[in-house]
Amino acid sequence: MPGQPMRARAAQVMLAVEQGQSLSQCLPPALKRLPENERPALQALCFGTCRWFFRLDGELQQRLRKPLKPLDRVIHQLMLVALFQLRHSQQASYAVLNETVEACRAMNRPHLTGLVNGVLRAAAREGEPPPQNQSVSFSHPPWMVEKLRHNWPDDWQAILDTNNTQAPMTLRVNARRFDRDQYLELLAGVGIQASATAFAPHGIQLATPVPVDRLPYFADGAVSVQDEAAQLCITLLDLAPGQRVLDACAAPGGKTCAILEACKGLAGVIAIDESADRLPRIEENLARLDLDATVQQADAANTDQWWDGQLFDRILLDVPCSATGVIRRHPDIKLLRRESDIVPLAGIQLALLNALWRTLKPGGRLVYATCSVFPQENHRIIRRFLKQTAEAALLEADALWGHDTGAGRQLLPVPHSHDGFFYAVLENRSNEREL
Ligand SMILES: C[S@@+](CC[C@H](N)C(=O)[O-])C[C@H]1O[C@@H](n2cnc3c(N)ncnc32)[C@H](O)[C@@H]1O
Repeated sequence: MPGQPMRARAAQVMLAVEQGQSLSQCLPPALKRLPENERPALQALCFGTCRWFFRLDGELQQRLRKPLKPLDRVIHQLMLVALFQLRHSQQASYAVLNETVEACRAMNRPHLTGLVNGVLRAAAREGEPPPQNQSVSFSHPPWMVEKLRHNWPDDWQAILDTNNTQAPMTLRVNARRFDRDQYLELLAGVGIQASATAFAPHGIQLATPVPVDRLPYFADGAVSVQDEAAQLCITLLDLAPGQRVLDACAAPGGKTCAILEACKGLAGVIAIDESADRLPRIEENLARLDLDATVQQADAANTDQWWDGQLFDRILLDVPCSATGVIRRHPDIKLLRRESDIVPLAGIQLALLNALWRTLKPGGRLVYATCSVFPQENHRIIRRFLKQTAEAALLEADALWGHDTGAGRQLLPVPHSHDGFFYAVLENRSNEREL
């Protein structure tokens, strides 16, 4: 719809998220319809409204005498977008009010302009009311607040607060092209402030995010955007030339590429992903970085579908998970994830681990990874697996990062630093003759 007000577009994206689409599904088509210079504004409105959704919605529900009709739900979203601007932007409140009322009219709801105007005028005049509960004050769904409090009695508030901040932009320097100090110099040369990450050997954190086309030699594969926690898989895999490596849940290929950059002369890297839609992203990343892997679409758990029977020296199993460690980067997770998702996810994770274990060489190493902060998807999976798999041994990660859970290391998201992540390193201690 050409000429539609920005807030109306944001409200429609928010409605799609509320109906179950992720921002990465519904935002790109909306952005494409806008001139390039207007895209960051729409993106900021949608990300910000998702991030603060539960807090903004708590306020809006308090201000509305009765909920809008289901068919007018998009106007509820429009008011959330406006409240986001009132509470979290520098926009003058009169401009927010006028433009939101205009957007309401443009969305063919002239009968609701009075209500929108009244609600927002009161919100601007009175300021934010005290939050009625912790879901509203921390701006997370009630079940997530409860679960985090239960799982992390000392850290839950810090996790929730960190989730509401913006994640830093972190790069992984392609070790085949530059060493980290050289690339830091290149960045300084173009006026981009950055520093080395504390734990990942090829990581660089930028002081402020920049578009990737400002990064020296990005298109030529000098660097990739990847959080520091995600980069740590390389150290844990302990790669060496001649190894056969499987990346079992590979798309979009961030870790596949990190593996190939980190070690020349691997005997081969197989990158599998179940999602046909996400597979091209692996190919694009490999092409930009000029790296080779065998990319295959398959359900990794169904080894008959894809495995040629040759055992792997190294397996990276970066399982599908709740993604609750990366809420800063994907604030729509707060709206999309349900408490009832966790048990089925844990079932899938354990099934993948059991299936892929059979493809690991004796003496080989499997790194299990999630970007979740829930023990049900992390150390409890590893405990269950170790109980039922006599030949699996847990290797202690000799690491300065994260918490030792006794069955893997848990990183919680840290402000101005890495995301939430979990790693466990398992070694196959079975004797070759037993196989
Ligand atoms: C956490 S993401 C992987 C991120 C990736 N390792 C990276 O660093 O770029 C999990 C991936 O698992 C894939 N997946 C889910 N179930 C799978 C299965 N049974 N077999 C293979 N891939 C699967 C999803 O499509 C998704 O791309």
